[in-house]
Amino acid sequence: MLRHLFLTLSRQPNLRRFFEHSPRAQGFTSRFIAGQTLAAGIAVSRQLAARGISTALDHLGENVTTEAAAAAAGAEILAALDAIGETPAPSPSTVAIKLTQFGLDLGDELCLRQVHPLFARARALGTRVEIDMESSAYTARTLAIVKQMHAAHGCVRAVLQAYLYRTENDVAELNRLGVPVRLCKGAYQEPPDVAFPRKADVDANFVKLMETLLGKGTDPAIASHDERILLRALAYARQRGLPPERYEFQMLYGIRRQWQQRLVDEGQRLRLYVPYGEAWYPYFMRRLAERPANVLFLATNLLRK
Ligand code: FDA
Repeated sequence: MLRHLFLTLSRQPNLRRFFEHSPRAQGFTSRFIAGQTLAAGIAVSRQLAARGISTALDHLGENVTTEAAAAAAGAEILAALDAIGETPAPSPSTVAIKLTQFGLDLGDELCLRQVHPLFARARALGTRVEIDMESSAYTARTLAIVKQMHAAHGCVRAVLQAYLYRTENDVAELNRLGVPVRLCKGAYQEPPDVAFPRKADVDANFVKLMETLLGKGTDPAIASHDERILLRALAYARQRGLPPERYEFQMLYGIRRQWQQRLVDEGQRLRLYVPYGEAWYPYFMRRLAERPANVLFLATNLLRK
């Protein structure tokens, strides 16, 4: 119920304009968002590196409506790639992008023109671009672009969502092609004909797909804060004798900090998804939707100010 409400609110343009221009925004977004600038994202990345944690840097933004905005997003990511190239990290920091930030709503050709140079730069710097997965309206087109980038540049990681029925087939195909995958549960509002409506089914599908990726995938990333899933992944890796270099864990900046430390202390590879930028509203609302207790945290913070 609350999940549904926050996901609906996340798509309201008027609320988005209002909140993103609020002078008090930084006060309540700082738990999940590094700051408004690339410098803030890099500063967090450096702090994490000192703790043995790698970064996937995300310049916030999605669903741009003009070619100029798509081009500006491209310039921002090139700058981010150059900056992470100069920032030490346990394993190379990556950038995470959403294709609608590069004009996917305006057409595949326009989007491809924006993203090709990002992959070329990432490859030259010895890192990769992770293509986040948005709502199911974009899944097929996103995966088609993932495959093109894999063939042309090789330095891509796809994201697949365990809540979609189609994902089992997508995992099999990307494993066959050798495309690295980040597996997550899925953060959007989806109808029951495309996604499991019950959380228990999503969790069970995640475990099944995770074991396929750990067994047969290329450099898979397990992206979850779910304790049962983390323990299951660790047990699976131990039983199969998989060394930590064969896979990595990923979590979101600001979430489950004790588990982050535990994984690092146990010698596991961990990458944190670190968002920065001014277009924070949809990302932030999806984090509230995942855990309504965050609203309490937010309300307490606002009252304190
Ligand atoms: P679950 O939701 O079951 O949470 C397990 C526990 O984790 C909770 O009980 C709570 O303790 C903690 N937790 C989870 N979310 C929290 C929050 N917001 N605040 C505080 N605590 C929280 N989705 C997508 O559709 N496309 C994408 O590209 C990505 N990319 C991505 C990258 C990375 C690195 C991560 C970790 C996640 C994503 N996601 C995503 C989001 C993902 O789909 C999912 O919505 C969240 O990770 C929440 O699911 P969990 O697996 O954490 O489990």
